[in-house]
Amino acid sequence: MERTFVYLKPNAVRRGLVGEIIKRFEQRGIKIVALKLFWMTEEQAKELYKMHEGKHFFRELIEFVTGGPVVAMIVEAPRVIEMVRHIIGGTDPLKAGTGTIRGEFALTITKNLIHASDSKESFEREYRIFFNENEIVNYYLDVQDDI
Ligand code: CMP
Repeated sequence: MERTFVYLKPNAVRRGLVGEIIKRFEQRGIKIVALKLFWMTEEQAKELYKMHEGKHFFRELIEFVTGGPVVAMIVEAPRVIEMVRHIIGGTDPLKAGTGTIRGEFALTITKNLIHASDSKESFEREYRIFFNENEIVNYYLDVQDDI
């Protein structure tokens, strides 16, 4: 079993896409083990995106992700890091595959609706910015035996 960190950016919340996006994870059999809606602070945003500091899109990115509430979650499944990125589609919505979340609902790179960790190392770093260990819930999901 593997875990990954995912968050829905403010435009996904404002556009009422939370249910549509979560549905796509659930119908694959991906288990949500932590979930919350909150307003990301500037400190959290800068920590999450520190590798992009100095890039031309950094300021706009920080302003955008702190401009409204987000929905963050930790999800669990076999090979879930790759699987979630496959479901989401490429960073640039123009190149995101048909049928992916970004391929169907996003138009621009900054407002690409959703972020997911790109590796185990990123997951370990990113989820700690937003979640305490006691917010992660271990439980049995019926579909686990059928996927
Ligand atoms: P995300 O997966 O959250 O990771 C970094 C974010 O930077 C990315 O999605 C985009 O929202 C944002 N971004 C804005 N411009 C660019 C760009 N030119 N290249 C990559 N990421 C960009």
